[in-house]
Amino acid sequence: MNPLSHVAIIMDGNGRWGLKHKNSRNEGHKAGLKTVEIIIKETIKLKIKYLTLYAFSTENWNRPQYEIKYLFSLLEDFLLKKIDDLHKQNIKLNIIGVKNFSKKLNKLLNSSEKKTSKNTRLQINLALNYGSKSEIINAIKKISINNDKINEKNLSKYLQTKNTPDPEILIRTGNTKRLSNFLLWQLAYSEIFFEKKLWPDFGEKDYIKIIRKFKKIKRNFGKI
Ligand code: FPP
Repeated sequence: MNPLSHVAIIMDGNGRWGLKHKNSRNEGHKAGLKTVEIIIKETIKLKIKYLTLYAFSTENWNRPQYEIKYLFSLLEDFLLKKIDDLHKQNIKLNIIGVKNFSKKLNKLLNSSEKKTSKNTRLQINLALNYGSKSEIINAIKKISINNDKINEKNLSKYLQTKNTPDPEILIRTGNTKRLSNFLLWQLAYSEIFFEKKLWPDFGEKDYIKIIRKFKKIKRNFGKI
């Protein structure tokens, strides 16, 4: 059975779900947040130590203002209501991406990270304004400023996912098969599961099914 410490997820399909069921993309995001909570709970049950969620990419700024505003108000609301609960559950919140949001949101993100920084049960890496190519470029710049050797170990150390093992599993919901500038370095050897269901329809049973499948895969890492 394969060990499993880190699951990464591209939560795709909110917009389509919202349009189909409520005639509103934003309603899809609202429903998607419920799935986030279900998956966090299940991740704890499964004793997985790291969960990385792609919530907002650098490319997502090209969406209409009302949708961007709604997404960040959902996030703000979620943190205000749930951060104490996450803390009580010994969950650490770590933001990856560039925090250049409103002063208010930046402050809330920083205080949420600080509050939960010593927690050990589960680390949630929330990718916000995240793009993998720029993460890699920034890492290389820092290596060169520090006059460090450019090698795989050092590069991993300078990424925002430092101290996090690479994901053994990537799940992308929403019936789309691409990586969308997400964790390009870290996913080099991950098992990838493309799921037809839209994110708000994805549930614990689907999650468990994927993990069961993963556990049985023969992982060779290039060997035979
Ligand atoms: C992709 O679906 C999803 C997003 C860009 C946002 C993800 C946000 C959530 C799951 C809810 C909020 C989460 C937090 C942590 C506050 P899409 O909109 O691209 O769907 P589509 O492909 O159907 O258009």
